[in-house]
Amino acid sequence: MPRAAVERVLVTGGAGFIGTHTVRRLLDDGRAVLVLDDLRHACGEPVPRPAELVRAELSSRTAAEAIAGFRPHGIIHLAAQGGVGRSVRDPAGDAQVNVVGTCAILRAAVDAGCRRVVFASSGGAIYGRARRLPSQEGDREHPLSPYGAAKLACEGYLGMFRRTFGLSSVALRYSNVYGPYQDGTGEAGVVAISIHRLLGGERPQVTGDGLQTRDFVYVGDVARANCLALAAAATGALNVGTGRGTAVREVLEILGRLAGDRAGPELIPARPGEVRHTHLLVERADRQLGWRAEVPLAAGLQQTLASFRERAGRPGAPGG
Ligand SMILES: NC(=O)c1ccc[n+]([C@@H]2O[C@H](COP(=O)([O-])OP(=O)(O)OC[C@H]3O[C@@H](n4cnc5c(N)ncnc54)[C@H](O)[C@@H]3O)[C@@H](O)[C@H]2O)c1
Repeated sequence: MPRAAVERVLVTGGAGFIGTHTVRRLLDDGRAVLVLDDLRHACGEPVPRPAELVRAELSSRTAAEAIAGFRPHGIIHLAAQGGVGRSVRDPAGDAQVNVVGTCAILRAAVDAGCRRVVFASSGGAIYGRARRLPSQEGDREHPLSPYGAAKLACEGYLGMFRRTFGLSSVALRYSNVYGPYQDGTGEAGVVAISIHRLLGGERPQVTGDGLQTRDFVYVGDVARANCLALAAAATGALNVGTGRGTAVREVLEILGRLAGDRAGPELIPARPGEVRHTHLLVERADRQLGWRAEVPLAAGLQQTLASFRERAGRPGAPGG
């Protein structure tokens, strides 16, 4: 779809971590943006003008009316209940937001004449314990949590809405996203949690031997992938990562050095069922979107630490 055809963009979850970076990028590109978010896990940065915010739950009548009124050309659907652990504790609550909420958005998209949906899926949660690395889009999906099963179910709904209602869509399977404005007080996001601990004078913690690897991708690169995917013709699933696995312990050591911490990470017992290694093959996103991750890990970590420090010193801003 040509770029000019996607001038009005709705971003669900646009007040969250990835959403905030995505909305700023869309505005920089000159697009009209409406944010739909009930602010249950907003990152604390104000929605930038001239974007408008509608505070509403995904499945609500207010949300459907806002979409009908705005008539978006494209939707970037980021709103979700994050947290694998939380989804294990409450699978029905997870499905209510992540599956039912997504169906409501897709239905409202069709009713409003929207032509394109970009969906935030998850490489880590969908591939599970991968038989081979890097994980490719054609590999068997093996979600190990309700959160991963919900992402896979949503990809199924995207395919159905494409076939039955002609709604073009793509699912971007992000790897481990990190960067400014990520919540450092929750259960997920080792970079944000570790910076939060370092700035609070505590040692970062790593489970097991710390040699488990993850594919850490900078949030600015992910926001760029979201924007490129809006105007592309790609359908199905596309991995969005760096294509490289990095040991969690190495990331914490870099952060420790940058923060001037001498104590080093603290090793805590491994979590049962934790996946040992993940990283994603990203050739398909390169071919179909012309996208590759550009921000090197050390530079991304430095920017993230600087942002957390700046916010910690800003009155009223969340520390994480
Ligand atoms: N952060 C990662 O590493 C990562 C990795 C893979 C996939 N994802 C996916 O990317 C998307 C964005 O993730 P994030 O890290 O920015 O999360 P986030 O929690 O920072 O942002 C989500 C936003 O959605 C809003 N929201 C949640 N439920 C809602 C509901 N029912 N109605 C309206 N608004 C609601 C929250 O208030 C929040 O502002 C999510 O779909 C997530 O599953 C994230």
